Amino acid sequence: MNRVIAIDGPAGSGKSSVSKRVGRDRGFLHVDSGALYRIMTWQALLAGIDTADEAAVAACAADVEVSFRAEGGAVAFYVDGQTPGEAIRSAEINRHASPVARVPAVRNKVTAWLRSLRTLGDLIVEGRDITSVVFPDTPARFYLDADPSVRAIRRHREEVAKGIATQSEAEIKASLLNRDRIDSTRAVAPLVLAPGVLRIDTSDLTLDQVVTRVIAELPVAWR
Ligand code: DC
Repeated sequence: MNRVIAIDGPAGSGKSSVSKRVGRDRGFLHVDSGALYRIMTWQALLAGIDTADEAAVAACAADVEVSFRAEGGAVAFYVDGQTPGEAIRSAEINRHASPVARVPAVRNKVTAWLRSLRTLGDLIVEGRDITSVVFPDTPARFYLDADPSVRAIRRHREEVAKGIATQSEAEIKASLLNRDRIDSTRAVAPLVLAPGVLRIDTSDLTLDQVVTRVIAELPVAWR
C-alpha cells in the first residue's frame, strides 16, 4: 500500500509550500485537495448555479468529471482535457468555495477521488479534513497553523508575485477569517485539530524550518 502524508490547516498556514517541498524531498506526489473543491465551485459558477442552493450544487457536482495524472512530482487535475490553472484562483472562487465545500455530496465525491489517488504512488495531501476524514489512519498527520495577520501577508505576497492581486492585505484577512469560520463550523468534516495530529505554528518559522520539522516527525522509515 502506498504511503500518505496528511497535512491540514487554514488558508495561508503554509500547507502548500511545505507539502510541495516535503513531497519533492521525500518523493511523495503532492495533492492539493482544495483545488478539487475549487474545481467543483468553478463548474457550479459556470453552470450559473446559486452556490447557496445545496441541492443544485449537489446535482452539478454529480456531473463533474476530473481525470488525474502524476506529473512533475504532483497529481495534476484535468477537466475536459485541460488543467484549470488560475481560473480556479479568483476572488470570486475564493468567495464561493466554502459554501460549495459544505455540501455533503461534494465532499463525498472529492473524498472518494482523493482516496483513489493512492494507486498513483506515495502521496502528500493537503487540505482541511485530510487528517480527520480522508486519511485518518495514516501515521504521518500534521496541522499547520499561523496567526491570521501573518497568513494574510503571505497570501497577499503570493498573489502579488503571481500578478493576480486584486485585494489589499486587510481585505484578504477578512476573506480568510470568513472562510476559516465557515470551514471550521460546518456540520460535515469541519477543519479541526484531530486527536493525535501534530500541530505546528508556522507564524515565526521560515519555510525551511517547517519542512525540516515535518520531515523530522515522519515515521523513521519515511525520513
Ligand atoms: O485550500 P484552498 O483555499 O484552495 O481550499 C478551497 C476551499 O475548499 C476552502 O473553502 C476550503 C475547502 N476545502 C475543504 O473543505 N476540504 C479540503 N480538504 C480542502 C479544501
